[in-house]
Amino acid sequence: MKTPLLHERFPTHDPDWPFFRHLPLGERPTPVGRLSGLADGAAEVWIKDESGFGDLWGGNKVRKLEWVIAAALGRRSPTILTFGALGTNHGLATARFARAHGIHVALALVDQPLDEHVLLRSEQLEASGATIHRTRTKARTHLLAPWLILRHGRFVGGRFRPAYVLPTGGSSPVGMLGYVECGLEIAAQVDAGELPEPSHVVLPVGSGGTAAGLALGLRLAGLRTRVTGIVVNDRLPLDARRIAEMANRTARLLRRRTGDIRVTDLRPEDVTTTRDWLGAGYGHPTPEAERIIRDSRTIGGPELEPVYTAKALAALRDMNARGDLGDGAVLYLHTHGPR
Ligand SMILES: Cc1ncc(COP(=O)(O)O)c(C=O)c1O
Repeated sequence: MKTPLLHERFPTHDPDWPFFRHLPLGERPTPVGRLSGLADGAAEVWIKDESGFGDLWGGNKVRKLEWVIAAALGRRSPTILTFGALGTNHGLATARFARAHGIHVALALVDQPLDEHVLLRSEQLEASGATIHRTRTKARTHLLAPWLILRHGRFVGGRFRPAYVLPTGGSSPVGMLGYVECGLEIAAQVDAGELPEPSHVVLPVGSGGTAAGLALGLRLAGLRTRVTGIVVNDRLPLDARRIAEMANRTARLLRRRTGDIRVTDLRPEDVTTTRDWLGAGYGHPTPEAERIIRDSRTIGGPELEPVYTAKALAALRDMNARGDLGDGAVLYLHTHGPR
């Protein structure tokens, strides 16, 4: 039996669950298709393209924000406080979408290697209307967080509402619901014959929420597809155990909300993560990533950037050339960080 999408299952807002809501921000389902000429090998490569979500932003941030912004509105929070590095895609997407729904965003930003892209992002962040706190290091961010939560609170309807805290990358249990939904959407596309059931889905792992939510969604839908996460961030402990733990926090939320015992926990053995394509660290270029950016441009393939998507697709290319992904179908999730 087809598993319904979460937003179909919970179409109306339940006042008893103010933080379990959905606010549609983009067109669904996102398209799937064959991806030829970039990562050919024993397995047939398919792409699910998460880039096209409208004018404010594209990419994987939007699905998380559909649940996060709805939750902040449900809690009547005046401000979302979130975290990232200087060139944060997540911070900019949050600032733009939240503002469009009347919520202010405050950002606590740590340093990262500066390049043209990071400088441009910083300018865009300034222009987004978000309040920016350059906390520089993780330690200082932790120290300042309690003050920031109060500093960005406000009295609303006679009650003090502190800032709504959204962890790095939007990867809270609520934010991850967006990628549970994506897993269910992939299953519906397999059911509809739009793509074969993939043996693996390969994607970049920055804070882990996309991979964790997706693994849970695929499991809920009954697919055997294995999430293979390409770790691009060395600042967080992003191994399979951590991804499974994150997925299970969302599983607990879903069990509480739905009373559905089919929402079972994931084990670390259920997902794969690798740091083999990370290079010198978060935001540092690698030759494989640079090569696949050029190759994709040459053949008119997906628009890749060096921090996330190029590292993930380069990994898929190498693994497929070695035969590590079997000889079935493999899906590349194009999380898209617009340049
Ligand atoms: C383009 C892109 N892909 C992947 C990711 C990583 O997603 P997650 O933080 O859920 O692991 C990000 C996060 O910023 C991103 O911008």
